[in-house]
Amino acid sequence: MTFLSATLDRVKPSPTIAVTTRAAELKAQGRDIIGLGAGEPDFDTPANIKAAATQAIKDGKTKYTAVDGIPELKQAICAKFKRDNNLSYAPAQVSVGTGGKQVLYNAFMATLNPGDEVIIPAPYWVSYPDMVLLGGGTPVFIEGEMSRGYKITADQLEAAITPRTKWFLFNSPSNPTGAGYSWDELKALTDVLLKHPHVWVMTDDMYEHLAYGAFTFCTPAEVEPGLYDRTLTVNGVSKAYAMTGWRIGYAAGPEDLIKAMRKVQSQSTSNPCTISQWAAVEALNGTQEFLKPNNDMFIRRRDLVVDALNACDGITCPRPEGAFYVYPSIKDCIGKTSAGGTLIDTDEAFATALLDETGVAVVFGAAFGLSPHFRVSYATADSALADACGRIKTFCAGLT
Ligand SMILES: Cc1ncc(COP(=O)(O)O)c(C=O)c1O
Repeated sequence: MTFLSATLDRVKPSPTIAVTTRAAELKAQGRDIIGLGAGEPDFDTPANIKAAATQAIKDGKTKYTAVDGIPELKQAICAKFKRDNNLSYAPAQVSVGTGGKQVLYNAFMATLNPGDEVIIPAPYWVSYPDMVLLGGGTPVFIEGEMSRGYKITADQLEAAITPRTKWFLFNSPSNPTGAGYSWDELKALTDVLLKHPHVWVMTDDMYEHLAYGAFTFCTPAEVEPGLYDRTLTVNGVSKAYAMTGWRIGYAAGPEDLIKAMRKVQSQSTSNPCTISQWAAVEALNGTQEFLKPNNDMFIRRRDLVVDALNACDGITCPRPEGAFYVYPSIKDCIGKTSAGGTLIDTDEAFATALLDETGVAVVFGAAFGLSPHFRVSYATADSALADACGRIKTFCAGLT
């Protein structure tokens, strides 16, 4: 018998972190590496937010707080939901955790029993299936095809629901595809959910503010108020406010669920970092002016990358509605051999050969549940993106 828990055998370490680590190792060896693997903005946390954190330290706000958040932050979150999503929540319906990741984890831990199914559209954010498995549940995948912009249909959702379905997990704009559901597309899904009162909705709105062009963000409880009583709306400050390291995420939903999530958190980490909570108050209550210029920058980078990748032999890259990822297909590269002599039989082989032969780090599609693809995070400087795309082009041209 092994010393380690059997539960741990069911999960794998995060492949995105594995790629970032491998790229860092090569860099340390002196290789010229361009990392397109990490899912975080390349710009600094805005100055007003940093100042609020400094002030909190000066004011001695450095002790334990209430387990799931200070009243001031809960109030700011309620105001944000009203302002941005037309959703009314009371502070008792709000939970604050150490990043969106912990909030999602708490929700699964608080609700899953063996045999419970969680419907997850693929491609998905890498942590969803493993969190469900850790909670003792069973992930059930629905494939969002590239031809439909990686979005699932109402018929697919209907077909996946069983008496054992506990949650439908929704993420728009999506990591890893950047796909964003329009109001009508989401309404088609919420209409299905209305017919199945035992299914709850967990929506991960982490990329809400990264919405481009004609695309307008919307969230399930806003599109279908009939789902309000069985929806957990998850969000956070990590991506839009460039606060990945501050570790603040939050959710709002029915009070009993929030209470159960608090119980999980009270016996694991207790409150999220006090100083970060005060910074998040400023992020949500302070100026939102930088969001627009940041989005303009991301649109420019998205277009740069999509156009450059579509000019590569064997790559097809849709232009997504949001987030800072693209998820090109490499179907036409499979079966070929790289200039360095590697058989490209899977997207993992493609990503590994690309890193070894050109120094460009991307994450292979199998990690996100849809192959053969890879994910590019374009939250990096234009010059690095152009350089990386040039190397990918050369790599593809060398496939025989
Ligand atoms: C879709 C999605 N949800 C949640 C998270 C977690 O965010 P946080 O850093 O706040 O834990 C991420 C981070 O990559 C993400 O991409």
